Amino acid sequence: MAVLGIDIGGSGIKGAPVDLQTGEIIAERFRLPTPDPAKPKAVATVVGEIARHFKWEGAIGSGFPAVVSNGVVYTAANISDKWIGVDAAHEFSTATGCPVKVINDADAAGLAEMRYGAGKDHQKGVVLLVTLGTGIGSAIFTDGTLLPNTEFGHMRIRGKDAEHRASDAARKNHHLGWKPYGKKLNEFLQEMERLIWPDLIIVGGGISKSSDKFFPYLSLHAKVVAAQLLNNAGIVGAALGAEDLT
Ligand code: BGC
Repeated sequence: MAVLGIDIGGSGIKGAPVDLQTGEIIAERFRLPTPDPAKPKAVATVVGEIARHFKWEGAIGSGFPAVVSNGVVYTAANISDKWIGVDAAHEFSTATGCPVKVINDADAAGLAEMRYGAGKDHQKGVVLLVTLGTGIGSAIFTDGTLLPNTEFGHMRIRGKDAEHRASDAARKNHHLGWKPYGKKLNEFLQEMERLIWPDLIIVGGGISKSSDKFFPYLSLHAKVVAAQLLNNAGIVGAALGAEDLT
């Protein structure tokens, strides 16, 4: 069963059809730049273009960088605040003519890693996935079940949002080397550990392909591993989120 997965990010909106049996992308992914400003109608237009590119007529799943409940967007840390209160699922359905499910982007990445990637052999216990990108996204699973819309990237560390200290964007903006960056990330993950005691921590986002550079500075009780689906987790997980539409 194939679902079109669409990952909405700060700089690009990417889509590809995903085979939910295997978790594989079955046609070359298609990316368009995120409109600036990324207001609802402009983003919905791009989502419509992606669906048309694939001549898509079935179910669509989308990952969105905010708290999303029943399709409605509730926060806007790194997106236009015009999104708050908007039914994104309805907007994207209108733009594509297809049934659309919208979930938080980190929850999407977590679903993909738990089904096909670094978490697939960890269906028991507590797994925390963090995505390190423009912001910090989080997803928590207990015995394989997602607790949706956790927002641990906004935990306050030394008076600042964790994502302003330890996201990949923070590393770049503050010109941090791997060691100081690793120490900042460690501080965040130690605080997470103090509060929820995960058995496994999966580190995702584009930066996870350089995990050997900063993992040496992490000192945690939990086992820490890099995400396995790398670039595709967002698309694959977005599609998985819409599994119940198929
Ligand atoms: C948002 C989260 C999102 C994360 C990663 C944070 O700023 O609040 O909802 O998952 O960025 O995009």
